[in-house]
Amino acid sequence: MKVFRLERIGLTKSGTAILDSVDVSISSGGITTLLGPSGSGKTSLLRLLNRLDEPTAGNIYYNDEPIASYDIQALRREVGMVFQRQELFEGTVTDNILFGPGLHGMPVEPGGILDLVGLNPDAHDRDVTTLSGGQAQKVIIGRALAVGPKVLLLDEPTANLDPSSTLQIEELVKHLSRKLGLTCIFVTHNVEQARRVGDSAFVLIEGQVVEEGSIGGILAHPKDPRTLRFAKGELR
Ligand SMILES: Nc1ncnc2c1ncn2[C@@H]1O[C@H](COP(=O)(O)OP(=O)(O)OP(=O)(O)O)[C@@H](O)[C@H]1O
Ligand SMILES: [Mg+2]
Repeated sequence: MKVFRLERIGLTKSGTAILDSVDVSISSGGITTLLGPSGSGKTSLLRLLNRLDEPTAGNIYYNDEPIASYDIQALRREVGMVFQRQELFEGTVTDNILFGPGLHGMPVEPGGILDLVGLNPDAHDRDVTTLSGGQAQKVIIGRALAVGPKVLLLDEPTANLDPSSTLQIEELVKHLSRKLGLTCIFVTHNVEQARRVGDSAFVLIEGQVVEEGSIGGILAHPKDPRTLRFAKGELR
C-alpha cells in the first residue's frame, strides 16, 4: 500500500524550477529517508505532502485519492510535520503537548505522549526554556504526535543536536514507527544517518529524484554520477 504517490511533480517559484518531474511512491509504515545536499529541494518536497505548498505541475495522491480532495485540516491532522529549525512555544511542556489537541478540540493525556517520546513524567511542568536540545526535540515530536497522525514528516530533526542526542532521536523515530505503525518521512543531508534510520531512501539532487532503494544498494550502484560526489561531501 502506498501512502503517497507523486506523479511528475514540478514546483517553480519566482521563475526558478525547484522540483522537476519528481515521480515517487512512499509505502505505508516504516521510515523513508529523503536525502540530498543543501538546496536540493528536500523541504520544498516535504511541504507539498501536507499542502503547505501546491505543486505547479503533476499530481499527488494520498491513500490513492488526489491530495487536494482531502479537507486540509483533516489532512494536516493525519500528516504531521516536524519542521526544520522548529521551536517550542512559550510555556510548559504540557502547554506545548496540548496545543494541537486544543486546536482540534481533541482530548489527550499528556502523560501518554511524554511516555511515548521517552520523557520523564516529571517533565510535565517544566518551562520549555529549561530543556536540553534533545529534550526539546522530543517535546516537538510529542507535540506533533498529540493529534494522532498516521504520517510524520521530519525535516532534518537532528540538525542542531549533539551526536548522542542525534542517536536518541533516531532511535525514537524508529520506535514510533514500529510501535504506532507510523509512516515516517525523514529528511537528512547525512548519508550515514539515512543508512542508520531508513528502510528505504530517495536521493534528491537539484530538484530531481536521482536514486531510490536501500542506501547500500544506491551507493553500490548509483544511477547518477552526482550521487557519489554528494556522498563524499563534494557536492554542496
Ligand atoms: N519561496 C521561494 N522562492 C524562490 N526560491 C525558493 C523558495 N523556497 C525555496 N527556494 C529555493 O529552492 C531551492 C530548494 O530549497 P529547499 O529549502 O527546498 O532545499 P533543502 O534541500 O531543504 O535545503 P537545506 O538542506 O539547506 O534545508 C533552494 O535553491 C531555495 O533557495
Ligand atoms: Mg531544508
